Amino acid sequence: MTKAMILKEPGKFAWEDIEVGDPGRGQARLRHTAVGLNFLDTHFADGSYPAPGYPCILGFEAAGVVEAIGDGVSGLKAGDRVGYCPIMGSFAQARLIDADLLIPLPESVSDEQAAAQILKGMTAQYLLRQSYRVQSGDTILIHAAAGGVGALVCQWAKHLGATVIGTVSSEAKAEFAKARGCDHTINYSAEDFAEKVNELTDGAGVDAVYESIGKDTFLKSYSILKPLGTLVMYGHASGPVPPEEFSKIPMDRYYIRTTLQAYTDTREDRLAVAKDLFDTVAAGGVKLEVGSTRPLSEADKAIEDLESRKTTGATVLIP
Ligand SMILES: NC(=O)c1ccc[n+]([C@@H]2O[C@H](COP(=O)([O-])OP(=O)(O)OC[C@H]3O[C@@H](n4cnc5c(N)ncnc54)[C@H](OP(=O)(O)O)[C@@H]3O)[C@@H](O)[C@H]2O)c1
Repeated sequence: MTKAMILKEPGKFAWEDIEVGDPGRGQARLRHTAVGLNFLDTHFADGSYPAPGYPCILGFEAAGVVEAIGDGVSGLKAGDRVGYCPIMGSFAQARLIDADLLIPLPESVSDEQAAAQILKGMTAQYLLRQSYRVQSGDTILIHAAAGGVGALVCQWAKHLGATVIGTVSSEAKAEFAKARGCDHTINYSAEDFAEKVNELTDGAGVDAVYESIGKDTFLKSYSILKPLGTLVMYGHASGPVPPEEFSKIPMDRYYIRTTLQAYTDTREDRLAVAKDLFDTVAAGGVKLEVGSTRPLSEADKAIEDLESRKTTGATVLIP
């Protein structure tokens, strides 16, 4: 029997049996061994991002073992260990998936590490190596530095030779981020982060801000950029930026709004981004950490904890 966490309608989940069936042409049947949790799940769970239809299965990141392959699949066989992201439907013990989307896992990366970090790590890759290419000597600001993506960005940016400033909402999160390469933390719940960045940089500002908070931080994030600095917008945990704020942004700064999907649209791109992540892990630049684990049957409660800022690092759900 296979079970999944089904979203019946926004805000209403049920842990129920599902039929998975045999893989069709080009597909694989995957038995999940570990499943990742991402802030993206919270947007779908509360209905602020519309699902393709209800009922549906959330979850965008997982690792597992191939159980069977359909006709036309090459380069993959039963027993292979794989991961994937960002593909909807991972909050299930097993699933069918296009074989083309699967990423082979190196032996050095465990299933739990992959499920925890493959989406977040590939996001960190495109943020730091493609959206704005961090150079040694840069100063950058990463919001939610103790979050899933944030903790990886701190490590990777430090590995690239940047000075890293991170915002966090508590002392415990500050310690966590510092232990992962964040040079300076700012508690943006208690302090004005823009004023603090001005102090830290003697008024010079930063080369790039990685902005994932949205309406609570957007204009202040702009205000701390150097002239011709870059704001990389990749999330809005506090809510979308009101449209009128875009008319207030300074004219001599770059803005890019990005998504992992755009950088992993082809198999070639997906494998290249994943390879850079795994190479950076092998070089000691980034650790793939599992923050906490809980049963997949508690995915609904894990989403609530993520939404209410109770988590640090990455949560893994065990099927
Ligand atoms: N565009 C993409 O390709 C892409 C891919 C992956 C993730 N993302 C985005 O990246 C961000 C981080 O994702 P993640 O999965 O790693 O989550 P996460 O950082 O582990 O969790 C979100 C964090 O945002 C902070 N936050 C600030 N204001 C908040 C609010 N009003 N409500 C809730 N959280 C708030 C909290 O950290 P503090 O308590 O320290 O403030 C919270 O822990 C999210 O915005 C996500 O949507 C985008």
